[in-house]
Amino acid sequence: MTQADLKKFHIKSFGCQMNVYDGERMAELLADQGMSAAENGDDADLVVLNTCHIREKAVDKVYSDIGRLRRKDGTSPMIAVAGCVAQAEGKEISRRAPSVDIVVGPQAYHRLPELMEVAKSGKKALDTDMPAASKFDVLPTRGKQARPNAFLTVQEGCDKFCTYCVVPYTRGAEISRPWSDLSKEAHALVDGGAREITLLGQNVNAWYGEDEKGQRQGLEGLIRALDKISGLQRIRYMTSHPNDMTEGLIAAHGEVPKLMPFLHLPVQSGSDRILKAMNRSHSAASYLDILEKMRAVRPDIALSGDFIVGFPGESDQDFEETLQIVREANYSQAFSFKYSPRPGTPAAAMEEQIAPQVMDERLQRLQALLNEQQYAFNQNTVGRKTDILLERQGKLEGQLIGKTPWLQSVHIISPDLTIGDMVEIDITQAGPNSLTGQIKERLAA
Ligand code: SAH
Ligand code: SF4
Ligand code: F3S
Repeated sequence: MTQADLKKFHIKSFGCQMNVYDGERMAELLADQGMSAAENGDDADLVVLNTCHIREKAVDKVYSDIGRLRRKDGTSPMIAVAGCVAQAEGKEISRRAPSVDIVVGPQAYHRLPELMEVAKSGKKALDTDMPAASKFDVLPTRGKQARPNAFLTVQEGCDKFCTYCVVPYTRGAEISRPWSDLSKEAHALVDGGAREITLLGQNVNAWYGEDEKGQRQGLEGLIRALDKISGLQRIRYMTSHPNDMTEGLIAAHGEVPKLMPFLHLPVQSGSDRILKAMNRSHSAASYLDILEKMRAVRPDIALSGDFIVGFPGESDQDFEETLQIVREANYSQAFSFKYSPRPGTPAAAMEEQIAPQVMDERLQRLQALLNEQQYAFNQNTVGRKTDILLERQGKLEGQLIGKTPWLQSVHIISPDLTIGDMVEIDITQAGPNSLTGQIKERLAA
């Protein structure tokens, strides 16, 4: 099938890195159909909004983006809404925004070319099925070009049903992709130029599979196998759930050279009462216990987390316990959000919803503390010698931005280096959000 009159596409991804990954797979699929990528929506014949449903504002943003796609002459490109809003809202989207031609969920985007055919005939196209057969079996194999810091989705969906969260509804049940597929995809990424691979999943550490010998493996088994790929220099994974943080995975942090000293392990709240109401099935103490074990094997590990303030029923005391766990855990970076009631989730129907001004005040206090920790972490790295992987161009002439093993951004100036290079630097300065470095030497790829 060809898309003769649809030549250029533009994909805009919101939300988590799994959406970024899906966006890349969609781009490869459309390129396989003979289309090419446009710089922006204005030049595109097809615009895909790859949406996120995790919080309220994310949805509003989609509708305002759809509005903005209308051009001055009154025309608009073919518009596809993909991602988690597509899954959650389905038909409602084209009712509210009639200019939308295609609505396609995260488990159905391999059908995009067929849906485009339907849309070309003037009909609305919708596919939010969660088919038993995996999209991964149908998508084109990964292209020749990969980003130096590539993503690889190993696990999708979630069975945890935290009471505030839409993910189990938008992404479906937890599934692990097979070992052999992941091994093939990892090799293809490295052959295409990837130096670092981040293994992705809503609960990435729940991944399991069977290796070539038919032996059951957890995420650490997969990590140990990837460690053997020559040309690959760094391995990361995210996002992890405390309940799936096994002894084996912790041990890998002390033993696998390419596994980076970084852990994104959301706790959400420091109050056991709230954690219970959230259905998190871990406690503040069990969370801290994991960190202690992790730091015993990897003392320099950088810790990241997610927090929700103002969950229904959260008292001043509960919030103080969140501040307390932050002080004890000590984060190098973190994401924190005001609770956002999501339609259809149990927490949205709970009594004692928290007033917006209380949430604002709590979020400010929490973020002040987290920012302080992040700044201190950054300052502690000044004077260290480390390697960075250059990921993108900076705003200044000759400026490049790379990441340290601890996932801090470093700005360097060098006209002779390019994206994808690994260089050894001295960290010379630290700001709240990024570092400055001086090049020591270029490392062989
Ligand atoms: N699977 C991951 C998180 C996925 S969603 C985990 O369990 O940790 C990313 C983050 O968004 C969550 O960690 C949570 O902090 C936040 N989040 C999810 N639902 C939310 C809601 N209804 N309101 C505010 N923040 C929310
Ligand atoms: Fe959402 Fe909880 Fe699943 Fe994370 S573990 S995706 S927060 S339901
Ligand atoms: Fe958003 Fe869906 Fe990811 S709701 S955070 S894009 S799984």
